[in-house]
Amino acid sequence: MAAMQHEPAAGHPDPEVRGWAPSSWRDRPANQMPQWPDPDVLAAAQRTVAALPPLVFAGEARRLTDSLAQVAAGRAVVLQAGDCAESFAEQTADAIRDKLKVILQMAVVLTYASGVPVVKIGRIAGQFAKPRSSPVERVGDVEMPAFRGHIVNDDAPIPAARVPDATRLVTAYHHAAATLNLLRAFTKGGFADLSHVHAWNQEFVASSAEGRRYEAIAEEIDRALRFMRACGVDLSTGAPIHQVDFYTSHEALLLDYEEALTRRDSLTGDWYDCSAHMLWIGERTRALDGAHVEFLSGVRNPIGVKLGPTTTRDEALALCERLNPDRVPGRLTLICRFGVAKVTGVLPALVRAVTDAGHPVVWQCDPMHGNTFTSENGRKTRHFDDVLGEIRGFFAVHRAEGTWPGGVHVELTGDDVTECLGGVEDILEEQLPLRYTTTCDPRLNARQAIDLAFRVAELLRA
Ligand code: PEP
Ligand code: CO
Repeated sequence: MAAMQHEPAAGHPDPEVRGWAPSSWRDRPANQMPQWPDPDVLAAAQRTVAALPPLVFAGEARRLTDSLAQVAAGRAVVLQAGDCAESFAEQTADAIRDKLKVILQMAVVLTYASGVPVVKIGRIAGQFAKPRSSPVERVGDVEMPAFRGHIVNDDAPIPAARVPDATRLVTAYHHAAATLNLLRAFTKGGFADLSHVHAWNQEFVASSAEGRRYEAIAEEIDRALRFMRACGVDLSTGAPIHQVDFYTSHEALLLDYEEALTRRDSLTGDWYDCSAHMLWIGERTRALDGAHVEFLSGVRNPIGVKLGPTTTRDEALALCERLNPDRVPGRLTLICRFGVAKVTGVLPALVRAVTDAGHPVVWQCDPMHGNTFTSENGRKTRHFDDVLGEIRGFFAVHRAEGTWPGGVHVELTGDDVTECLGGVEDILEEQLPLRYTTTCDPRLNARQAIDLAFRVAELLRA
């Protein structure tokens, strides 16, 4: 009898009826979490973060779910982009502005080409925790704990810097708050106004072939705006061209932090993780009965889950059922990161299974994480051709299956770095050390990112 009473609760749409709570992940196996040396310091940091205001509001997260529902329905595309790991040391106003510029530029190119809205989500204002393939790193003769993101330890290659320090949770909160404050000012306060479309083209981009191609679109947009004004269309304050909806996201890896920012929405009574608008589960932490799936199953934010090349159709289906049992459109994004060689082999079966089961997911292509390799000079890198190749394979599968290739998820920076190979300027292996500044994975530089946007635009138009 008791067992029968438990049955309905297991799949109940209300997470709390299912026994979910912001802390229920603690009963599950949690991969990739650091060994904090001092539990008291951790508990104090969590109390501090829990007493601070939410970074985002439930209503904003709901608006993003609605926008992503448009993507799931094939009426919009999503661009999710930003750093692999944000650095506490490089969060200057200029760096944040330049990253935003590139994302806005890419979005303009995609919107212009596709004629549908582009939902813009940054890997920003909280992308501080990193899963690692190995818990240790060897630097010369010295073995030390791996760098796990600035919310956990420091990237300096000395063992003392790598000791997890829980006071960093509080520092991470303040960095996220400062970044978000600037993003809100930029996107709502005039900088992202479509009539400034030329100003987003940074100098080192403007002089390149991609920059000139972008200028041509910017000129067309100017002309269209002049035309509308001449026709008497009211483009004064209040028109949607003056502001941009820009959302934040990060991998919900460090659950001690995410739990401390999980709040009950006063309007609906639902739980939201108020550290970002969207959260995702990484490839290494998507175990169905693991802590990360448990945690995100109960918050109402739009969420994503990374799917790597070993994902089976049963795993994909089980994740959909567990994370979106009510089949809410826009709630769940499947972030596919198979690698250029595997995408056309792995994706079709997953698309068919998920579609046949009636799950209204957003299909997103992350062409970065399945295409990483180490160059001869020891730098972790990716080749632009592989990145583009995986996106092409992703589009081809969706075209063949009759499903909507919802968008892309990329790692980029607004800086003129040399971390990924190839692209129009054709970065070569020997050039990687010139400006290689990432603390984690190699990122597209601004020119490569805009080039990629043009290529994706062509695919959307095809
Ligand atoms: C990432 O997005 O930086 C990442 C670690 O991805 P994945 O979980 O897909 O490896
Ligand atoms: Co990464």
